[in-house]
Amino acid sequence: MFVGLDIGTSAIKAVLVDETQAVLATAEVPLSVSRPQPGHSEQNPEDWWQATLASLDQLKAARPVELAAVKGIGLSGQMHGAVLLDASGAVLRPAILWNDGRSAAECVELEAAFLGLHTVTGNLAFPGFTAPKLLWLRKHEPDIFARTAKVLLPKAYVGYRLTGEMVEEMSDASGTLWLDVGKRDWSDAALAATGLDRSHMPRLVEGSEVAARITPELAARWGMATPPVLAGGAGDNAAGAVGLGAIHAGNAFVSLGTSGVLWATTDRFAPNPQSSVHAFCHAIPATWHQMGVILSAASALGWWAQTEGISPGDLLRPLGDAPVAPSRAIFLPYLSGERTPHNDTAIRGAFVGLDHETTREALTQAVLEGVAFAFRDCLDALNAAGTTLATADVIGGGSRSRYWTAVIANVLGLPINRIEDGERGGAFGAARLARMAATGESPAAICLPPRRIETIAPTPALQQAYAEKHARYRALYPALKGVTS
Ligand code: XUL
Repeated sequence: MFVGLDIGTSAIKAVLVDETQAVLATAEVPLSVSRPQPGHSEQNPEDWWQATLASLDQLKAARPVELAAVKGIGLSGQMHGAVLLDASGAVLRPAILWNDGRSAAECVELEAAFLGLHTVTGNLAFPGFTAPKLLWLRKHEPDIFARTAKVLLPKAYVGYRLTGEMVEEMSDASGTLWLDVGKRDWSDAALAATGLDRSHMPRLVEGSEVAARITPELAARWGMATPPVLAGGAGDNAAGAVGLGAIHAGNAFVSLGTSGVLWATTDRFAPNPQSSVHAFCHAIPATWHQMGVILSAASALGWWAQTEGISPGDLLRPLGDAPVAPSRAIFLPYLSGERTPHNDTAIRGAFVGLDHETTREALTQAVLEGVAFAFRDCLDALNAAGTTLATADVIGGGSRSRYWTAVIANVLGLPINRIEDGERGGAFGAARLARMAATGESPAAICLPPRRIETIAPTPALQQAYAEKHARYRALYPALKGVTS
């Protein structure tokens, strides 16, 4: 038995998986985000911990015998968040999250302070990443910065509470801007550029290796006679990839979660920071990946549903199963700014092209298309980084919508595969990493692809219509820049 836990932004999700890789039980505990100022995004690490305890308690209530037999736990986590701990391991302030845009000025300073940043870390300095957040704190909250003894990412903090040890793995560490991504080791120069050194960092392991063991007290709480091992785990996107079996070069997927990701697995470190592509380690040894990241994907639909006062499902129902023609309205999904390809925290979203005939359905369709166009921008960025895709799977909450998947297939011009349990997210991949860590089985033996329930291929007429609309969408970013900020 293995447990996977996803420390997400909107919820903690837990899965209990058996030796045949069947999911026996799931649990979900919702979380909220606090936005104390426009562009800021924070969560209290204690909330993650309480929700983690509650989700494992739920698994115990559902399957007490099976939970007692768990050999390994794996963590998947929202990436980039800065959890600041003092020398006693106490949390110093709320964690600053991946979609927080406060440190744009510090990104410029960081790139000037460490000229090797792009080469060593493989990435541009994005405000969502961890290092610029520390420069912001040094400037705006100097006593917190001075008292910071360790900086952990969200899942490493939960791992610390589970085991008493501070350990991180390569895929999540890649999003800090402190990792030498090619060498899979902390970079002293990158740390020094933020006023930190290795003592501020957790120990590094691979995602499929043992990180530590669950404390005997917690093991007893869940009825486990032998405390299970904790695997290194993965950033949520890498964990999603492990769950999909996307561990071989050329494997690709679209993730329609709170954020949106277009992922491509690579067998080498393949950076191209100029196109705002992220080049990170995978959670599997000697494997890397590239990804384009958009900050609002399913969360754009969530925002629109909330504004209209109905559920996303009710909003989507009138659209049917597949698009017939693009909406005349255009939506730009920059509700939290954008990463790929613009790297712009100040830009904000917009509806454009409204008239007296514009209906709620037309605007809902425009929201789905706007997110798809943002993925198209990511695809163009990956192409510029030398990666071409033949097909992609779709995962995340938004993948429940056949309609949205069909829009994405036509906008990307790629066959997109809907898979069984596509909303499972990182927790299932984390359980696979737990198994590899506990048993030593190889990634290739464990990371098999899921069953594809349908492949949606683009149709030439729709692809053409969406290509024309994408060109108009592209023209709007430069027009909006400076207007919405
Ligand atoms: C990836 C990113 C997001 C978060 C969401 O770079 O910022 O996908 O990992 O949890």
